[in-house]
Amino acid sequence: MRVPRDQREDRPFGPDALLWSADAGTDDGAATAEGLHPGDVEAVHAYARDPEVCRYTEWGPNTPAQSQTFIDEMLAASSAERPAVMTWAVTIAGAGAEDVIGACSVTVTSHEHRRGMMGYVLAQAHWRRGYATEAAAAVLGFAREALGLARVEATCRPGNVALQRVLAKIGMQQEGLLRSHILIRGRREDSLLFAAVDWANDPQEA
Ligand SMILES: CC(C)(COP(=O)(O)OP(=O)(O)OC[C@H]1O[C@@H](n2cnc3c(N)ncnc32)[C@H](O)[C@@H]1OP(=O)(O)O)[C@@H](O)C(=O)NCCC(=O)NCCS
Repeated sequence: MRVPRDQREDRPFGPDALLWSADAGTDDGAATAEGLHPGDVEAVHAYARDPEVCRYTEWGPNTPAQSQTFIDEMLAASSAERPAVMTWAVTIAGAGAEDVIGACSVTVTSHEHRRGMMGYVLAQAHWRRGYATEAAAAVLGFAREALGLARVEATCRPGNVALQRVLAKIGMQQEGLLRSHILIRGRREDSLLFAAVDWANDPQEA
């Protein structure tokens, strides 16, 4: 059995302990999320350099330096006293390269308005096994329960059917089309806007 990262001495930051506390790190092959680690650069680069993984993302395909910068920036952001961006490694036991198969994140876009944004990426070899749905549900739960967000958004390119399916499966609603929303490798692209609203976290409703 592997040593859960949160029991390692060099565990870099804290919010991961709040996420996926349930069956995290067991041997059943289920995906789990753990604090991003400086040694994850190799695993991160293995998927971040893949053009198919980056097809709908504004970043990538990464150079090794860009993957290193991603890790450095995410670690710095996550260790802030009141982090606005929290990123976790998605891991499964037995995947190799420290078991990291992807990453998921939540960004608090407004503390005042209790609003945030989520994102996910997985290595291609691990697609279509339900891992992203599992990760997305956990991040959404964390955003609501630990961060108290009232509105959590996700954007997705219209061609990214897999992500649309993931977001719908965790109960996010498609609210609209953001025209010419994002610049992807020199090409302007539309985005679909998805959101989940938690009225219990809305101060007016409480
Ligand atoms: C989007 C992504 C995270 C989905 O990961 P995943 O682990 O394959 O998703 P899941 O296995 O949880 O699949 C969820 C649903 O999507 C469906 N799905 C997955 N890939 C699909 C595809 N290419 N076409 C149609 N449906 C697809 C699955 O069948 C499943 O639906 P079902 O349960 O009704 O059968 C993954 O494809 C990815 O990392 N893509 C590259 C990065 C990216 O685009 N991130 C978003 C940035 S905008």
